[in-house]
Amino acid sequence: MVYQATASAPVNIACIKYWGKRDTKLILPTNSSLSVTLSQDHLRSTTTSRADPSFSKDRLWLNGKEEEIVAPGRLATCIAELKKLRKELVEDKDASAPKLSTFPVHIASFNNFPTAAGLASSASGFAALVSSLAALYALPCSPSTLSLIARQGSGSACRSLFGGYVAWEQGVLDDGSDSLAVEVAPRSHWPEMHALICVVSDDKKGTSSTSGMQRTVQTSELLQHRIKHVVPKRMKEIEAAIKAKDFDAFAKVTMADSNQFHAVALDTEPPIFYMNDVSRSIIALIVEYNRVAIEKTGKRKAAYTYDAGPNAVIYTLQENVKEIVELIVKYFPQKDGFKDPFQLFAGGSVG
Ligand code: DP6
Repeated sequence: MVYQATASAPVNIACIKYWGKRDTKLILPTNSSLSVTLSQDHLRSTTTSRADPSFSKDRLWLNGKEEEIVAPGRLATCIAELKKLRKELVEDKDASAPKLSTFPVHIASFNNFPTAAGLASSASGFAALVSSLAALYALPCSPSTLSLIARQGSGSACRSLFGGYVAWEQGVLDDGSDSLAVEVAPRSHWPEMHALICVVSDDKKGTSSTSGMQRTVQTSELLQHRIKHVVPKRMKEIEAAIKAKDFDAFAKVTMADSNQFHAVALDTEPPIFYMNDVSRSIIALIVEYNRVAIEKTGKRKAAYTYDAGPNAVIYTLQENVKEIVELIVKYFPQKDGFKDPFQLFAGGSVG
């Protein structure tokens, strides 16, 4: 008997950014965050897990290369938590269920996009890993329950357990049991939303999110202001904008929060710069595009956002996608068909 399961999880791109932990082991954030999960077709991780009593130990391959699983690291923690759930929820309840929690697992994961280029590969990666083990172990768990485990792999991964519009509620408990992802709205609520991903560089980024955000927690005064006085208000505003399908309000908050996240990175000692000149030129282009739109209709038509890297994500509605792609192609001439220095993963719809 072969015990094996495969699952995919897409990338999510935050509109209200997670940046800072109050507990680095359990990965509990200093603020709530909200993201949009992209469709499975574009940027995703696909993971296959197999349990077999003949395996000597747990092993994992990422894009064909073996990664060491070291306890009590993030990978080891996620695998251990899922085995524990298998035992408690399946094997202890049904004596005839195979004792998969006692078998070592082999896990193979592939991304269809560059790893660690600020494209949230750890988010889709840990979400796919948790989903594939949950399927292998036939766990009767909701996505929110699984998000508690994915969170311990990489904070932002908890949001990739859902499609559409997703909040990660920071929670208040010390054990993290209330720090989980919840659906704000399914994709079908606002299917006109699109994300254009402009790959400015697919190099591995200089400062990882994990180490960068801890330096910010330790040194930035601006972060304290953000946590207390800015994010709670913005979470309410963006949820209201999504529920009302108010793109202008969604765009305003999304861009403001991207700007403030990069401001707290700059307020870190030593300062962290994630955007480069091309990133900043794309901001200028979107600002000008919105200025013209506001003049005509009173409303914004696009929103940029940047994670811990130089790549731009532009949210817009379906009706504007063609116009924006044409503008970008015009102002950022492509070399070798969308390759270096500026590559466009065109029109990802929301998943
Ligand atoms: C800028 O989830 O990669 O993309 O929890 O340490 O693994 P760890 O960090 P990670 O940080 C993501 C930061 C961000 C913002 C966001 O996705 O909310």
